[in-house]
Amino acid sequence: MKRTHTCGELTAENKGKKVTLIGWVNKCRNLGGLLFMDLRDRKGITQAVVNPETNPELKEISQTIREEFVVSLEGIVNLRPDEMINNDMITGAIELQVTKLTVENKSKPMPFNLEDPKVDEDIRLKYRYLDMRRSDIYKNLKMRHDIAKTIRNSLSDQDFLEVETPILSKSTPEGARDYIIPSRTYPNKFFALPQAPQQYKQLLMVGGIERYFQIAKCFRDEDLRADRQPEFTQIDLEMSFVEQEDIFAIIETILKKVMKDIKNIDIPTPFPKISYEDAMNRFGSDKPDMRFALELVDLSEELKDSEFKVFSGTIKKGGIIKALNAKGQNSIASRKQIDEWTNTAKIFAAKGLAYLKMQDDGSVKSPIAKFLSEEEINTIISKTNAETGDVILIVADSAKIVNAALGKLRLEIADSANLIPEDTYNFLWVLNFPLLDYDEEEERYVAMHHPFTSPIPEDIEKLENNPANVRAQAYDVILNGVELGGGSIRIHNPDVQAKMFKTLGISDEEAKDRFGHILEAFSYGAPPHGGIALGFDRMVMLLTRAASIREVIAFPKTTKAGCLMTNSPSDIDKKQLEELKIEITD
Ligand code: AMO
Ligand code: AMP
Repeated sequence: MKRTHTCGELTAENKGKKVTLIGWVNKCRNLGGLLFMDLRDRKGITQAVVNPETNPELKEISQTIREEFVVSLEGIVNLRPDEMINNDMITGAIELQVTKLTVENKSKPMPFNLEDPKVDEDIRLKYRYLDMRRSDIYKNLKMRHDIAKTIRNSLSDQDFLEVETPILSKSTPEGARDYIIPSRTYPNKFFALPQAPQQYKQLLMVGGIERYFQIAKCFRDEDLRADRQPEFTQIDLEMSFVEQEDIFAIIETILKKVMKDIKNIDIPTPFPKISYEDAMNRFGSDKPDMRFALELVDLSEELKDSEFKVFSGTIKKGGIIKALNAKGQNSIASRKQIDEWTNTAKIFAAKGLAYLKMQDDGSVKSPIAKFLSEEEINTIISKTNAETGDVILIVADSAKIVNAALGKLRLEIADSANLIPEDTYNFLWVLNFPLLDYDEEEERYVAMHHPFTSPIPEDIEKLENNPANVRAQAYDVILNGVELGGGSIRIHNPDVQAKMFKTLGISDEEAKDRFGHILEAFSYGAPPHGGIALGFDRMVMLLTRAASIREVIAFPKTTKAGCLMTNSPSDIDKKQLEELKIEITD
């Protein structure tokens, strides 16, 4: 090795020792002829000093040193004078008295200040390899590695086999948009990058592998947000001969181990469970953040005959009325704040936001008070447990809109009212998702999860006549209001699968064309099986408390799904296009 120590390990105990360090010049400053350098590697920073009086041969070269040069330094470990000791650093008690200095490589000036926490993200992504020299990204990647190691060990201990599945795979409908790869050897035919190893892992179960896992790359061409990337990583697993409780136990074991190893936190297991229906009713979300209360209150029954036409009219049209008690928020509920809340509600297509302010003098201030009877107002107050200083927010609309609008307001208000406890990790299961979702555009039912998800046995008979009410053996694991993972028990019975395709409006022919390989496989004795996938990037984001998953991915894409560092996607050669028999039109 070119070094005897890293920049993060020398202490007073090494006093007098001759050592060699190599790394980047983090900072250098000239003080009355002495050159002080902070030398950095991934383990830390060590202060070094070049003294031209004791080492005149170093005078010239030391003056050429600039930040981010790579240098190796040979020298003697000295104790710092008392007043220079820095107890916040491992190496804060010593400095290296340099006796030999070699410039291993120079550096152009940095395109941005590595110490500046507020650099524009585009610049950071363009120079990701420089951005990575900042300790945050290194810390995030280190934790990512540690979590992967714990999970790999834990699953191996539980008899899971790590199996890789193809990246060049087949396009199947019913998911997000595919990334498509043209084939040279089969002109006009295409591979798709896998959105998940879903079909392969089910085929592994048919193959008798019984317990599979993979830290799998997935590709989805969808609109991106802070917690979505076009390529991302899943902790993907599948098991044979199981029921959903068996999958829960495996996931709880891994997550408990991760929280203990990485955070030294004991999380209680089993995780609490809530049905999809309850989650929507009480929190307006299928990924409820239950670190705080603030539950939604249904007032449909109480207000269905109200003189206020917005309320009674909504109920007549099959809608609902719900309220949220913004606890203690009256003091900040200015006109402007109410407008902001109203705008949030309108983003989710609500037509308005009604409110009742619980004034200090005991009165109720509300623009809709004149439309409501005293009894109605009292019922609203008592059902929402409102007290002086609270603001009651009400939305009347379809259940979908009411839940989305109030669910989001619940999060905003919890945040601004500081109701979310720091450093809490709240895991829970959401169960019994609906099997199907009605797609208004396509005017047909689509699978909420994917078409191989098994209905709850007692609901199978409803597939034909009442599909909207069929519940699935599908589950999500939620951490602090983020969907960490999701999975299901699969259909292994061909009759049930045929019914499912029929409900989805997929003809026998289309099913054969699109899913023929898997239907064929299932006709040779498919075991009962099920599985789950955890979003690995999201998990690391939550555990590192990063603001987006881009902070925990070495080379992430932008929100427009491009790479600023390599300038991709990019043009390809004419020859490549010709080989692929692809013609570019405007
Ligand atoms: P699902 O589509 O729910 O299930 O994905 C599982 C988990 O992957 C994460 N995730 C993402 N993370 C980052 N960027 C994205 N674009 C992205 N999309 C999803 C989420 C999500 O919970 N094959 C099924 C699993 C199964 O049934 O076993 C699947 O992929 O955290
Ligand atoms: P309007 O009669 O439209 O002026 O509305 C009177 C009040 O009711 C205003 O404060 C609106 O924001 C509110 N409002 C209107 N539509 C709804 C709705 N669908 N749900 C809740 N409040 C509403």
